[in-house]
Amino acid sequence: MGTRAGGGCRPRRRVGRPAAPAEGGAATGGNPSSGAARAAPEEGEGLDAQAFRREFPALSEMAHLASCSQGALSQRVTEAHAAFLTSWRRRGAPWDEWTAVVERARRRFAGLVGAGEDEVAVVSCASEGAHQVASSLPLEDGRRTWVVTDLEFPSIAHVWRAQAEARGVRLRRVPAPGGSVDPDRLLAAIGPDVALVSVPLVAYANGLRPPVAEVVARARAVGARVFVDAYQGVGVLPVDVRRLGCDYLVAGALKYLLGAPGIAFLYVRREVVSDHRPSHTGWFGRRDPFAFDPDTLDYAPDARRFEIGTPAVPAAYAADAGLSLVAELDLAALWPRLEGLAQDLQERLLALGARLASPLDPARRGPQVTVRTDHPQELAAFLAARGVIASPRGRAVRFALHHHTDLADVERAAAGVAAFAAATALEEGRG
Ligand SMILES: Cc1ncc(COP(=O)(O)O)c(C=O)c1O
Repeated sequence: MGTRAGGGCRPRRRVGRPAAPAEGGAATGGNPSSGAARAAPEEGEGLDAQAFRREFPALSEMAHLASCSQGALSQRVTEAHAAFLTSWRRRGAPWDEWTAVVERARRRFAGLVGAGEDEVAVVSCASEGAHQVASSLPLEDGRRTWVVTDLEFPSIAHVWRAQAEARGVRLRRVPAPGGSVDPDRLLAAIGPDVALVSVPLVAYANGLRPPVAEVVARARAVGARVFVDAYQGVGVLPVDVRRLGCDYLVAGALKYLLGAPGIAFLYVRREVVSDHRPSHTGWFGRRDPFAFDPDTLDYAPDARRFEIGTPAVPAAYAADAGLSLVAELDLAALWPRLEGLAQDLQERLLALGARLASPLDPARRGPQVTVRTDHPQELAAFLAARGVIASPRGRAVRFALHHHTDLADVERAAAGVAAFAAATALEEGRG
């Protein structure tokens, strides 16, 4: 290990409720349905935190604190992947079964965020969801400004930038010095010239929760729409799109939703769906994808109009299974426990002399505690060698908590950081 002078880590030293309603495996589209896929249980008894943890065999060996990057692998997702391959081997081309799983994943996501099934598009990634909105958002004279913040994940920022450039829209960018936006400055940026405001539910870099409710209220007042990137929160934080009042919300399946890469969900409020005619389109965006009519560019009446081509079926199996787990949690009841664990981790890290990038105020902190360090890769590797999976980003290491996290995980993470700091000090002393 090299010298780590100047690093941020210095050694100064159950509540469950029944799962989402049982959902049938009705396929959409033109393929005849002959048997619903059984990739994931459709009903659960409700899981408390301990029972939830037991769904993840890998957690007997590691503290998985990296849901901000990739969620932990559950037994259900393992079995769902196997179920996909089995269906393929046994039935050859079981599109009815596969489509049923995609539809079930859609329904589960809709149920999780309080949306109608018709308000959810299944897309390949969060960036695609943002693109589909930005590229087809109506433009009105006198309202050609989009408000974004520096809290945005870069890929989403790229989409706003590219589409603003392509469409002649002005981007009004609210800075986030030190990883935080000034709420007054953000709200002041939302004027009558604004068509869209983009705000993350939780900032990926440090776990900050910006004032989304206030943003929505302000946007409503001036007639602007709101896009929420909920990727770093949905699955742990209770989210209800109606209560939130946003127009669009996006999240991929692979982080706190406990799925695998390849699929994401875009919520579009029913009242604004028909304003959009995405030019990035294909047969899955049609009213009837199986009409096979190349001359008719009709748009599905619901959020399916944002879809393009064949969905990522293996990823849908994983998403369905991951969402089935989340559906068995009472997120509102469990969140305070997670807040307590985050607070505990924060205090342990502060006691070690670490500098945190995540907000100290629990009301502004998402499911992530973030420690500053000049050596994020080294710290993450050091922790991984001790069975603690955390996520390096920029000049920080992120510890993401999920409902499977327990106190032993927190203790292990803090002990790992302490050992890293001690080892670093020893090496520095040697130099
Ligand atoms: C908050 C947030 N938004 C968007 C993305 C990018 O998502 P995708 O790769 O699905 O486009 C990420 C990825 O880490 C993220 O954390």
